[in-house]
Amino acid sequence: MVLLDGKKIANDLKAEIAIEVAGIIDQEIEAPHLAAVLVGDDAASQTYVAAKEKACQSVGITSSIYRLPSRTTEEELLQTVEYLNNDDDVDGFIVQLPLPKHIDEQKIIEAIDPAKDVDGFHPVNVGKLVLGLDTFLPATPAGIIELLKRYNIKTEGKHCVVLGRSHIVGLPISIMMGQKKYPGNATVTLCHSRTKNLAEICRTADILIVAIGNPEFVKADMVKDGAVVIDVGIHRIPANGTKSGYRLKGDVQFETVSKKVSYITPVPGGVGPMTIAELLVNTLKAAKINRGLD
Ligand code: GUN
Repeated sequence: MVLLDGKKIANDLKAEIAIEVAGIIDQEIEAPHLAAVLVGDDAASQTYVAAKEKACQSVGITSSIYRLPSRTTEEELLQTVEYLNNDDDVDGFIVQLPLPKHIDEQKIIEAIDPAKDVDGFHPVNVGKLVLGLDTFLPATPAGIIELLKRYNIKTEGKHCVVLGRSHIVGLPISIMMGQKKYPGNATVTLCHSRTKNLAEICRTADILIVAIGNPEFVKADMVKDGAVVIDVGIHRIPANGTKSGYRLKGDVQFETVSKKVSYITPVPGGVGPMTIAELLVNTLKAAKINRGLD
């Protein structure tokens, strides 16, 4: 079994980005600038946004965070989006999800200028992704694709089973794995909450991508010997005897599943760091377009 070391690959990717950013700054051009909008006090979102800011700093990308209270109205958030759309100093921005219940997420996503949508969530960018056109790829699926690529994992003709149809992960990765390129060219099955015989389908997977949001959902008896398993989940599970009082678990029961696979991502240190690195990739891409460097 080989661990897909997302932490290491993300560091390699960040080192490559840092070199490119330094090259931009050397030409006396402003550093790329990523802004993040954080509404409310969701603990996980705060952690993610802080990690994104730290990652920006590590590669020389300027970052700014717009923290808005949970009582922020949809109208006020739309105004912030409009402000960032028009701020020439900002190359790209994200609105951290989930948003408070009283705000229509889709409405906010559709208000973002597609040219600044470094999350790749705007319908224009999703449409381009589906058609295989150049666009901002959503960060988590892009991170999974990059891991498969850097470990030279064969995907052509393989059966790829995706668990979960979220717009952020399951839906886009199911499309990307079926596209006519490497990594891709797989035969894809997208499973979700209404799927019948889910365990049976999982057992036919050569590549199993799990983004279901349910701790340790995938057990060893759902996985074929020698499969490649990508675990997108991350959950804090209360645990005695740990300093923090919790342990991080994925959507896959790592202890048992890892014994029968060829490759698997750990949690933490698998997909998570790749997601953050890919956001930097998109920010650099946006900056290069903005500055006419492409
Ligand atoms: N919430 C969970 N993942 C993501 C992501 O990739 N981008 C944003 N904006 N919010 C998220």
